[in-house]
Amino acid sequence: MKIKNITVIHGPNLNLLGQREPDHYGNQTLDEIDDVLSKEADKLNLNISFYQSNSEAEIVNKIQSLKSDFIIINPAAFTHSSVSIRDALAAMKIPFIEVHISNVFSREDFRKESFFSDIAIGVISGLGSEGYCAALNYVAKLNK
Ligand code: DQA
Repeated sequence: MKIKNITVIHGPNLNLLGQREPDHYGNQTLDEIDDVLSKEADKLNLNISFYQSNSEAEIVNKIQSLKSDFIIINPAAFTHSSVSIRDALAAMKIPFIEVHISNVFSREDFRKESFFSDIAIGVISGLGSEGYCAALNYVAKLNK
């Protein structure tokens, strides 16, 4: 299948990037990260759209409404708690990559548990915002 339409989903508190715990998450704002991804998607000839929510229910509703071919998702804190977002992804059968800006394995123990990793195509953690770009480039290569 040709992958053309990609949705990037950002979970709770990622709207605060740029001011939030820069030691873990860097200085870029979410808009700046999305902007870099938009430009990269243009180069790769992919359509990309972005969604951020602090609400678990809204993320579930968004996933249920998607017509995308692929999802890049940073579920943020919901990574470690959300059966409903996991179930929405499983139900929609849209392949996805799980991205974390920080290295969740070098932090508190509870961050080592993910409700998503076993059903993801892959997981990128600790590469900062570059992780999103790496995921996007991987997706583009699937078309070759
Ligand atoms: C995060 C890691 C999560 O543990 C945390 O709750 C986040 C961001 C990351 O991108 O590193 O909000 O997903």
